[in-house]
Amino acid sequence: MEINDDKISEIRKSVNIVDVISEYIPLERKGRNYFAVCPFHDDHNPSMSISPEKQIYTCFVCGAHGNVFNFLMDYENITFLEALKLVANKVGIYLDVSKNPNKIKDKFDDLYNIYDIANKYYQNNLHTKDGVEALNYLKNRGFTDETIKTFGVGLSTNNQITKLLKAKKYSDDILIKSGIVSNNNGLHDTFINRIMFPLSDLDGKVIGFSGRIYKTDDSSKYVNSKESDIFKKGKILYNYHRAKEECRKKKCVVVVEGFMDVIALHMVGIYNVVATMGTAVTNEQAKLLKRLSTNIILCFDGDEAGNKATLSCSKELESIGIVPKIIRLPDNCDPDEFTKKYGVDEFNNYLLNPKSLLDYKLDELKKQTNFSNSDEVSKYLKDAIIELSSVTDPIVKEIIIKRLSDDTNISMSTISGMLKNKKNVAKTEKKQIIKLNKYEKSERELIFYMIRYPEVIKIYKNNKCYFPTQEFRYLVNEIVHYCDKNSELIVADFLSYLSDKKELLNAFNVIDTMEISDNYTYEQIMDYINELNEFSIKVQIERLMNEFKKETDSLKKIEIAKEIQDLKVRV
Ligand code: CTP
Ligand code: MN
Repeated sequence: MEINDDKISEIRKSVNIVDVISEYIPLERKGRNYFAVCPFHDDHNPSMSISPEKQIYTCFVCGAHGNVFNFLMDYENITFLEALKLVANKVGIYLDVSKNPNKIKDKFDDLYNIYDIANKYYQNNLHTKDGVEALNYLKNRGFTDETIKTFGVGLSTNNQITKLLKAKKYSDDILIKSGIVSNNNGLHDTFINRIMFPLSDLDGKVIGFSGRIYKTDDSSKYVNSKESDIFKKGKILYNYHRAKEECRKKKCVVVVEGFMDVIALHMVGIYNVVATMGTAVTNEQAKLLKRLSTNIILCFDGDEAGNKATLSCSKELESIGIVPKIIRLPDNCDPDEFTKKYGVDEFNNYLLNPKSLLDYKLDELKKQTNFSNSDEVSKYLKDAIIELSSVTDPIVKEIIIKRLSDDTNISMSTISGMLKNKKNVAKTEKKQIIKLNKYEKSERELIFYMIRYPEVIKIYKNNKCYFPTQEFRYLVNEIVHYCDKNSELIVADFLSYLSDKKELLNAFNVIDTMEISDNYTYEQIMDYINELNEFSIKVQIERLMNEFKKETDSLKKIEIAKEIQDLKVRV
C-alpha cells in the first residue's frame, strides 16, 4: 500500500490526539480543550493546550505546535515515517514502508553490520585468555559481569579485526570508512590492546567505539573511532537509549562528562545518566537532553575544565528555554571517583540538593573576585546584576541582593538601583526585537486568513502579491499548491504535509498561533495585498535607484529614471 496524503490523513484521523498525548503526559480538561504541562520546555503551569476539535496541540509559552505526528516526532525523537508507523500500528493499519521512496535506504547496512561483527568479536575477546589482564583492570574499577554485559564492554587485541572483516569480503573502502580499520602503509586495526566501549545511536544501534588503554601508558587514554556517515559525536549522548525510560520515570536526567562516570553511577544503582564524552555540548545534544527531561542536572568533573563545560552547556540549554541545576563535586573529583571515595549516599545527597544555576554562577563570580580590589568588586557587582536581571521571583531577588551587599559592603538600595537600570535597558531591547513593520504584519495576517478560508486563497490567486519574508513566500507556495490538490486546508493534515520541512513548519506555527480575530472582510484582505504590492514596488524602486547610480551611459540613465518615475506613480 502506497503512502500518500490521503493515507496519512486516514491514519491521523484514526486516532484522537488527546488519547495519544495522554499516553505520555497527564492531561486536564478545561472546557472544550485539554491542558498539559508542556514537555518541550521547562514548564511549571500547564501551558500546552490540545484541541480535540482541530486535532492539534499548541504551547503558548514555547510555541510548540503540531498534529499527532509532530508530537510523537518531538517527544520520541523519531522521524515522520516512524511516527506514522507508530500510529498505524496502534490502530492496526498495515503500512508497507519498504515501498516508500522516503525510506532511508539502508545504504548504511554494511556499516551497521561491521560494527556489529566488531562488537561481538571485542566482547568475546574479553573472556578469552587474552582478556585476563583487561578483565582484571575492569574488576579493579568495580565492574561486575552484569555491567560488562550491559555496556557491551570488550577488548581489542592485535590486528585481528581487519583480518576478520576482510575475510567477510568487505571492501577496503568501507572498512576504512568505518573507522575500525586505519590505512597507513596497508590496513591495520585502529584499536590495539584497548578496552572497547561501543557507542550507540539514539536507538541503541552500535555506530562506533571508544577504546581505553589499560596496560600501557600510551599518550592518548581514549581513542574514538572517527566520525562516519552514521556516527556524529555532536548528535549523540552516551547511554541515551538505556537512560530514556528511567529519565522519564525519575523526571530528571543527570549529565556527566565521561562514559566511565555513566557506568560508575550505573553500578551504584543510578540509571538516569547520560554523558557528553568530553566535548562541548552542541545545540542538538541540548535538544536531546530536553527530550529526556526538562529537569536537567549537570554533574561535570570537579576541575576547572568541568567548570567551563558546565557554563557552556548551561548556555546551550538556556538558549532552548531550559535552566539546568548544577552539582559541583569537591576535590576535583569526577562522579566515578567521588562515589568510590565517599560512597553513593554522599552522592545522592548532592543529587537531592543541586545548586540553582543562578547560585552556581554567582558562586563562580565570587570565587574569581579579589574583594580588596575595587575595580574587581565593581565588575563582580555588574556581572552579578546581569545574572540577577532575569530573575522574576522577588524572594530570590531579595536574598541575592542581600548576599551581594554583604559580599561587597555596598548598600542594598544601591544594588537595587543598579538592577532597575539594567532592567529598563533589557526591556527596551526586547521590545525592539519583536516589533514588526507593517509589511511583515500584513504578510502574516494575510497568511493567517489564507490557512483558514479557501476564499482568501482565491482572492490572493486573483491578485497575486509578493511576500517580503522568504520563508513566508515559500509557505504561501506550499499552501497554494496544497489547496490546488486538496479542496480545503485542514491544519492537522497540512502539518503532516510540512513535517519534513522544519523551517516552513516553524513559519506556519508562528502564523497559526497568532492571536487575531478569526473573521475578515474582503476589504481587509485587499488592504493586505495592496500593502504588500506597495512594498514590492518600493523594493524595485530601490533596486533601480542603485542601478541608476552605477550606470554611466546617459541614455540608459534616462531609461532607468523613467522606469522609476512610472513605479513612483503607483505608490
Ligand atoms: N575523552 C576522549 N579522549 C581523551 C580523553 C577523554 O575522547 N583523550 C572523552 C571520553 O569520552 C571520556 C570523556 O572525554 O569519557 C571524559 O574524559 P575524562 O574525564 O578524562 O575520562 P574519565 O571519564 O575520567 O575516564 P577514566 O576514569 O577512565 O580516566
Ligand atoms: Mn574518571
